[in-house]
Amino acid sequence: MIIAPSLLAADFTRLGKEAERAERAGADWLHLDIMDGQFVPNISFGPDVVAAVRPHAKKLFFDVHLMCGKPEILLEPFAKAGADQIIIHVELHQQVTPLIWKIKSLGKKVGLAINPPTSIAEVQPYLDKIDLLLVMTVNPGFGGQSFIHECLPKIQQADAWRREKKLNYRLEVDGGINNATVAECARAGADTFVAGTALFRQHNMGAAVKKMRKIAHDNDPGLADLKL
Ligand code: DX5
Ligand code: ZN
Repeated sequence: MIIAPSLLAADFTRLGKEAERAERAGADWLHLDIMDGQFVPNISFGPDVVAAVRPHAKKLFFDVHLMCGKPEILLEPFAKAGADQIIIHVELHQQVTPLIWKIKSLGKKVGLAINPPTSIAEVQPYLDKIDLLLVMTVNPGFGGQSFIHECLPKIQQADAWRREKKLNYRLEVDGGINNATVAECARAGADTFVAGTALFRQHNMGAAVKKMRKIAHDNDPGLADLKL
């Protein structure tokens, strides 16, 4: 089980300290939401901010989620800034394959994200080429939105596919994840949980991470069978 606090919900006046807080809290990954004002109706932060934060959380795996219309111009800058994994969206259609190869050529792990209205069938051609599938559980663009329950069957399908096809991509969920929805997602087969509001907005983030991890663990339907 991976718990990945999203920096989007951190205090933007002190991002270095916030990243340190996530590391001290026992998080596994730091999730970095990159929005370009085009693919989604909001703007967050860019590679220079990620590079500035990187030395504050040396042990955390940096999970960079690109909600951007032209990721090709951003892959190298984010790789240099300290990304460990770069996630692109399947809604970019014919751009997806070249982007996957470019991320691999930079020596980074590859993630593929899918938005709530997009059919899960769209990701099928890429499943043997990725390290992680991100099933979005809100429409991307803003933190603090409510979990969309209609996304749960997509998680079940993605988990069934990796077992049938003997693939070992991680299955991540992002958006509206809290102590109630983390249980539903874990039961559906998710193993990697992004949470912004539910973790960064807690006074005691360490306790919040621990509790979320325990709930995910207690609802795990058989992760041990997978080689993640
Ligand atoms: C949504 C982002 C999410 C967001 C999650 O566009 O991709 O990562 O930060 O925030 P919460 O956990 O507050 O829904
Ligand atoms: Zn995200």
